[in-house]
This record gives sequence, structure tokens and C-alpha cells, in this order.
Amino acid sequence: TERVFSGVQPTGNLHLGNYLGAIKRFVELQQRFECLYCVVDLHAITVWQDPAELKRSIREVAAAFLAAGVDGEKHIVFNQSQVSAHAELAWVLNCVARLGWLNRMTQFKEKAGKDRENASVGLYAYPNLMAADILAYRATHVPVGEDQKQHLELARDIAQKFNNDFSASIAELGLDEKFFPQPEPLIAGPATRVMSLRDGAKKMSKSDASDASRINLTDDADQIAAKIRRAKTDPLPLPESIEGLKERPEADNLVGIYAALADSDPAAVLAEHGGAQFSQFKQALVDLTVARLSPITAEMKRLVADPGHIDATLASGAERAEAIAKPTMDAVKDIVGFVRRS
Ligand code: TYM
Repeated sequence: TERVFSGVQPTGNLHLGNYLGAIKRFVELQQRFECLYCVVDLHAITVWQDPAELKRSIREVAAAFLAAGVDGEKHIVFNQSQVSAHAELAWVLNCVARLGWLNRMTQFKEKAGKDRENASVGLYAYPNLMAADILAYRATHVPVGEDQKQHLELARDIAQKFNNDFSASIAELGLDEKFFPQPEPLIAGPATRVMSLRDGAKKMSKSDASDASRINLTDDADQIAAKIRRAKTDPLPLPESIEGLKERPEADNLVGIYAALADSDPAAVLAEHGGAQFSQFKQALVDLTVARLSPITAEMKRLVADPGHIDATLASGAERAEAIAKPTMDAVKDIVGFVRRS
């Protein structure tokens, strides 16, 4: 069966990049697939999180999923720590993945920074936990932004090495030789890498010190307008065709954002706005962004104000997620050779 899995970290400041690169696509995929959308709280604690703030953030990410249009009843919305298979399978995969593979992960290098000796062991093993998230459900499709591509390639390598290392045991148990399917990344559309509004060479990020660099899903219409008006641009008018966006990262970024919000593509956006001055295009972008985000922001606020509904959605999601992950985990234990109580 085809199944979608994806995760978002509850580390504060959900932004337009998270929405366009991931959450908006989660909503679209519900038509075609059985979907699991996970608030990855175990991943969040790989760097220090204030406990009260973490709890608030978990609910806020769940609220963003629901407010954007994820159906928590037809599909599964849950937080990672409520399903023990994630941590359990991650341990087994820690023993499958090689140090050399993890040493190549660019996100670890970025996040650990100069003081690598002081990074948590969890931050280093982070991609193995991400592989466990996906493989616990034997998910076939994983919608993410461009920045997660390397982690997904690692998940594919880990799945393949597990299948190879344990091929005899898998055969003996009469299981499919491709016990873990190869998860396919879904990285597509005009906003797989939304850039900072202050610097077209940096990606929009939760951790950027400048709040003006990103549009938060909690920003109001005035904040959105101010940030877009102040967004960095070059002095030329918008080009007439997409070739003209080359070497113009800021223009490329704003056109991509517009296209994603309008469910369109950059060529169509330029057919309409090519030749316009940025002052004019930015006003159109403000109007579109506010029109698309403000209903989501309002619904998030409403949901977070009474966490009962969110917590119930997460609890029901966790129960249903566990029902899928448990048989996989039991099979993994048999494959590896652990003695199990029945
Ligand atoms: P996280 O929490 O950093 O980001 C959540 C999602 O948002 C995407 N994203 C972006 N997309 C476009 N432009 C941007 N500037 C931008 N910034 C972030 C991310 O690519 C991601 O899809 N490791 C993951 C969470 C995770 C996961 C998983 C994802 C844990 N387990 C299993 C898929 C499958 C992360 O840190 O995402």
C-alpha cells in the first residue's frame, strides 16, 4: 500500500517556508494517499527546549496542520513521543547506519556549528530517528522541502542495508525480501526552498536571528505587509520570463512564493506581472499572502486557545499510528533475533 509520512519539528516560529514546502502539500496529498503527519518532539530535544515552551509548540504545530486543512480524523496527526516504535526502531537503525554516512550530513555540520564537541549525541543520530519515523510505517512517499533531501537519501540507504544485512532472516520468516520499501521523496513545486526575505542566498529558517527574514504563521496582516515591503530586492523590474530570474535570487524567491500561494507556477506569474516594478508586485504579494494565511492564523489561534481538541486529536492519532507501527516493530525484533514474549 502507498502511504505518506512526514514530520515537522515543534521548535517555535513555524514560517511560510514550512507552510509552502511542507504543510500545504500535506493537505493536497490527502486526496491520493493514506497520510501520517507527525509533530516530531523527539527530534526537537536534540537541541535544548524549554519544557513549557516545547509543550506549547507541539500543540501549535498540530494546530497548524489542522488549520491548514489536514483532516485529523480521516488521516493521522500525532506527536512522535506518544508512539514508542519511533525510539525503538531508531535504536536498531543506529546499529545499521554507519558513522561514515552520518559524518556526511550537512545539516548536522550546520546545526552543531563550531562547537561540535558540545553537540548532543541525539543531534548526530537525528537522521537515524528520521529514518525510523518513515520506516516504522513502511511509508512509500515523503513530502518535504529541499533541505531534507540528504536525510531522505540516508533513510533509503538504511532501509536497503537493513534488508541486505538481514536478508536470510527475512527469508526464513517468510517476509517480503524488500521488508522496508524505499521511501520516495516528494520535493516538487515552486516553493521547495523558500529563501530569507533579507538575504536571497539563505533559506528562510526558524532560527534566523532576524524576525524580518521570515513570515511566521502567527504574524498578523500588518506584520506580513511590513516584512514583504521591506524584503530585499534588486532595482530592476520583474522579468518577462523565467530565464530572467537567473542570478536574481530575491526576485526568484518572491515569484516562487507568489506562485505557490496562488497554486500557479512562476511562468504564469511572470506572464501576469512581468515588467512590473517591485513596489507594485509586492503589494499584490501582500494581498495574496494575507488572503491565504490569515484564515489559517485565525484558526490556529482558536485551536490553541482550547488545547482539549488538539490533545484528543493527537491521542487518537497516536493510537492509530501505533496500530500500524507495532506489527512492523514486532517483525523487526523477530528479524534481528530478539526473544519476544508473545
Ligand atoms: P523542519 O521541522 O525543519 O521543517 C518542516 C518541513 O518544512 C520544510 N522547510 C522548508 N521548505 C521550504 N523552504 C524552507 N525555507 C523550509 N524550511 C523548512 C522542511 O523541509 C520540512 O519538510 N527533519 C525534519 C522533520 C522530520 C521528518 C521526519 C520529515 C522528522 N522526521 C520524517 C519527513 C519524514 C525537519 O527538521 O523539518
